[in-house]
Amino acid sequence: MEKHYAVIGDPIEHSLSPWMHNAGYSASGVDAEYHRFCVKPSQLAEAVEGLCALGYSGWNVTIPHKEHIIPLLDILTPEARRAGAVNTVKIQEGKRIGHNTDGAGFVRSVEGDLQGFKGKNAVLLGAGGASKGIALALAERGMKVHILNRTLEKAEELVQAVERAGGTATSGEFASGDWLTEVDLLVQTTSVGLHDEPYPFSLEGISSGTLVVDIIVTPRETAFLKDAKKQGCRTQDGLDMLLYQGVLAWEFWLGGQAPVEEMRQALKKQLFQRMFYEG
Ligand code: ATR
Repeated sequence: MEKHYAVIGDPIEHSLSPWMHNAGYSASGVDAEYHRFCVKPSQLAEAVEGLCALGYSGWNVTIPHKEHIIPLLDILTPEARRAGAVNTVKIQEGKRIGHNTDGAGFVRSVEGDLQGFKGKNAVLLGAGGASKGIALALAERGMKVHILNRTLEKAEELVQAVERAGGTATSGEFASGDWLTEVDLLVQTTSVGLHDEPYPFSLEGISSGTLVVDIIVTPRETAFLKDAKKQGCRTQDGLDMLLYQGVLAWEFWLGGQAPVEEMRQALKKQLFQRMFYEG
């Protein structure tokens, strides 16, 4: 029987998830379809009821619903509970299960390059929702996490959340500093760079062994990543985090292994089309 999945958010036109998941279903012969729906915050509860009534097997949740959907669900996985946010819902035996694949998706996207996390230093720029998921997932794997944010109080709150979860974290000013010389993984999670604007500080002096990631998907190479490359660092854009949160959602819904390469190619193809044909 054909299964139905979706992503809900507002706005939603930018979402690449339908291409990624539908390509995956075709590649592995899964009888399913994935849709996207714009859901206004005031209509989230009705939308959830509607998806259940229509027989959807699960859906992804994006901005601005990741936290507000929690009271509408029956069960949270430990990942969702820890993050305080849900990006994936599965309907199982009539129950709505909330899960979060953002943090683990990020970890999957860097683990091949980093070759181990324990005792290594991660610096996160930004202390919003995206940073929280990543900070908790990295700390859980034994990394020491240093969080820098424009608003220091928010970085401090995130440090406390990491410590409550049993991890090690510190906070600091959103600026370059001594941390540049002792960082194994540097992650840019703020919205600076989304519109190709210059980054407010330079990475000059960063150790060249650092893996530098910007979680922004478009533009593919932000000014921040260009700077990192110039300093001799390895770089990674936001595509792989997007890919692996989708891969993990797939595996949560359907079991088995998702066809990662086909899903990656579908994402790249759709991004390329948007860049060249839709300005
Ligand atoms: P997300 O869920 O995508 O992480 P968010 O919760 O709105 O989004 O968080 C946005 C992050 O980008 C915050 O860390 C924010 O810093 P503040 O906490 O000081 O607001 C950061 N940010 C946004 N614009 C910024 C700018 N111009 N300079 C520095 N940081 C910025």
